[in-house]
Amino acid sequence: MNTISEARLRKIELLKLSGINEIFIQETESPSKGEYLQQFEAEYNDCENCTLAQTRHKLVWGGGNAEADIVFVGEGPGEQEDLQGVPFVGNAGQLLTKMLAAIELSRDEVYITNIVKCRPPGNRNPHEDEIRACMPYLEFQLSIIQPKIICALGKVAGNTLLQNDDTLTKMRQKFFPFSSSKLMVTYHPSALLHNPEWKRPAWEDLKMLKREYTESR
Ligand code: URA
Repeated sequence: MNTISEARLRKIELLKLSGINEIFIQETESPSKGEYLQQFEAEYNDCENCTLAQTRHKLVWGGGNAEADIVFVGEGPGEQEDLQGVPFVGNAGQLLTKMLAAIELSRDEVYITNIVKCRPPGNRNPHEDEIRACMPYLEFQLSIIQPKIICALGKVAGNTLLQNDDTLTKMRQKFFPFSSSKLMVTYHPSALLHNPEWKRPAWEDLKMLKREYTESR
């Protein structure tokens, strides 16, 4: 099945969740992945599927290249991201940009998003029900982008995508099959800001990511 057909199926699932049982599809010229994401974001920009909607300023869908071979998935927007509507623009985001540069990747070459699209108040971890409410959006994004590699940033993203409760140490330094992609887990840049001694093992993870990325092209 091609990207757009799979994306349509996901979209139909989303519509069903909002109580719509019958739809009429008019065939038009296929939009690009970027256009498809933009249409989807515009459509769900007033999402109220969980209580995070009450405290958010802006929904943070994601950013970067919709044609990317790598997607990075963080936990949820922080204060700056919530104000600007752009992922990873605060201190952790600046470190993520440097981590990418260290493996010769720019933010324009990858796509960056989060498990939850609205800021959990005070930057707390997202709750189970918030994650559950938001997952169809991430699934939809991934079904459009169809990256070769997904890199989960931190334990929350890793546990959510792998549906486990393992420690970060147990999840890192390997690739897991994930739909038609390969998924790896590494440290969240915020964790690296607070624990600089983890930068060395994080560098090992980045080198592993770079090797896989080079081989996959
Ligand atoms: N931390 C995250 O997990 N995501 C962001 O977008 C910013 C900080």
